[in-house]
Amino acid sequence: MKRHLISAADLTRDDALLILDTADELAKISERSIKKLPTLRGRTVVNLFFEDSTRTRISFEAAAKRLSADVINFSAKGSSVSKGESLKDTALTLEAMGADAVVIRHGASGAPYRLAGWVRGSVVNAGDGTHEHPTQALLDAFTMRRRLGALDGRKITIVGDVLHSRVARSNVLLLATLGAEVTLVAPPTLFPVQVGSWPCEVSYDLDAVLPKSDVVMMLRVQRERMNAAFFPTEREYSRRYGLDRDRVAKMPDHAIVMHPGPMNRGMEIAAEVADSPRSTIVEQVANGVTARMAVLYLLLGGADLGGEI
Ligand code: CP
Repeated sequence: MKRHLISAADLTRDDALLILDTADELAKISERSIKKLPTLRGRTVVNLFFEDSTRTRISFEAAAKRLSADVINFSAKGSSVSKGESLKDTALTLEAMGADAVVIRHGASGAPYRLAGWVRGSVVNAGDGTHEHPTQALLDAFTMRRRLGALDGRKITIVGDVLHSRVARSNVLLLATLGAEVTLVAPPTLFPVQVGSWPCEVSYDLDAVLPKSDVVMMLRVQRERMNAAFFPTEREYSRRYGLDRDRVAKMPDHAIVMHPGPMNRGMEIAAEVADSPRSTIVEQVANGVTARMAVLYLLLGGADLGGEI
């Protein structure tokens, strides 16, 4: 594996399978009463969050602590960033504290690449602007694999605000590497112009794609990133692209429903679908800890797992 994990494209098929297999091993720890390994004792993981997060921030902290790493949590709110301190100076301050890995979430696409040029430790992208969120794609692939088995030839449909979604881009890249066939579904206004060069199909018709899907992953409509009218009304969006009970009935019996969260219940996904047995949304959060443990373990060169699990 490379030293940093910034894009899902950084992962070869062998890398991705190694992470997923390692996560399978580490999942056994989550089933124990004492959920901790000494593997990363003496290592320091810094969580550097310039943008809001619930799931990713908490799960990286839990993952590092379960591997016995020391964890420093940095949030831009309440820090010297509000006094104008730059990303570089913040990074160098944290570097001086001896970070072995820096997990960064930032509103600017590309910020983790800049950071990687300034710090000696590994950089892990926890979401940068509308660019990528590779550990979300890994936890999603881990969840799919546990539910459905190997992903080769599986049909994955990703629906919604692709234009603003770092989750969609990372999932398309990783799932293609793992041999899955991805179809993106959205209104024409919510596709990026370069989507034609992505390794996936594109559709505007959700109802036509649902019967052929093993997985339907709904994306949050990111109203906070929208500076124009991308669809007539929320009701119209929901009618054409929302996942409700009638649409779930068109999916094969084995197919699962995913959402990276946070959700707009009643808009891209009906509450009864989000809470249904076919939904893996809560499972995805639990799997996030395991997948991120695997990433930190492999990047920081933890001790052999064989004797520890
Ligand atoms: N899926 C995800 O990245 O959620 P958070 O924004 O809560 O971290």
